[in-house]
Amino acid sequence: MRSFAIAAGFFAVAALASPVNVARGSDAEPCDDNAPPCMTYPQAQVVAQNFRQSIKNYSNESTIQHFTEDFVDYSASVNTLINGGCTGPVDLNAATFTGRENFMAGQGSQPAIPFKILNLYHTCDTVIIRWRSQGPGQEPEPVTGIIVIEAEYQANDTTDPWLIKTVYSEFNSGAWLVNLGVFTPTCPPPPPPSKRSITAN
Ligand SMILES: *[C@@H]1O[C@H](CO)[C@@H](O)[C@H](O)[C@H]1NC(C)=O
Ligand SMILES: *[C@@H]1O[C@H](CO)[C@@H](O)[C@H](O)[C@H]1NC(C)=O
Ligand SMILES: *[C@@H]1O[C@H](CO)[C@@H](O)[C@H](O)[C@H]1NC(C)=O
Repeated sequence: MRSFAIAAGFFAVAALASPVNVARGSDAEPCDDNAPPCMTYPQAQVVAQNFRQSIKNYSNESTIQHFTEDFVDYSASVNTLINGGCTGPVDLNAATFTGRENFMAGQGSQPAIPFKILNLYHTCDTVIIRWRSQGPGQEPEPVTGIIVIEAEYQANDTTDPWLIKTVYSEFNSGAWLVNLGVFTPTCPPPPPPSKRSITAN
């Protein structure tokens, strides 16, 4: 069950491809001298990579390095997979992980699934990824999702200043439940092939 929790929500950053789309927050320097600076695009990529590492190459050490102690992960989609489509035992509105310690205790190795980043956006302190999992390991239905990663600035860390603080991850858990065989849809039979498609093939 735990593996779903991590698998589903986090594969989103499992194979960071070149972003195809970048939307930026304000580039203006904040007026308040004590306010954190605005996250740059390369820093947003690092945040996403750090998150990816926590899935693909997990270690407690890197988690402590890249996540805030009060890290929280919210995903009703993951909770739905954990529950197998039922309303419990996990409250669908509850956080999937509460606290870095809780995350560390629940984290583990994950099965490989196809994964493609469709878009990577960022604001001054948030990284947003849209992703798709499709093909062997995720069949017959493609699964598309969105992850929002809120990060916290660490003024004393110049090499890795943005720590992962809050994750909101939602995706097409209906399709995923079908692929897992948990839910079997009643689908209309495919239409008979038309003359045109026979000719075309
Ligand atoms: C996994 O992480 C460790 C450090 O935590 C690093 O030494 C190693 O190179 C990483 N392996 C891969 C395949 O990224
Ligand atoms: C990582 O941290 C968690 C939570 O403290 C702990 O349960 C687990 O045993 C640790 N893993 C290793 C390899 O130390
Ligand atoms: C930055 O400060 C925090 C809080 O005092 C501390 O936990 C952390 O280790 C520091 N990081 C670096 C890179 O010095």
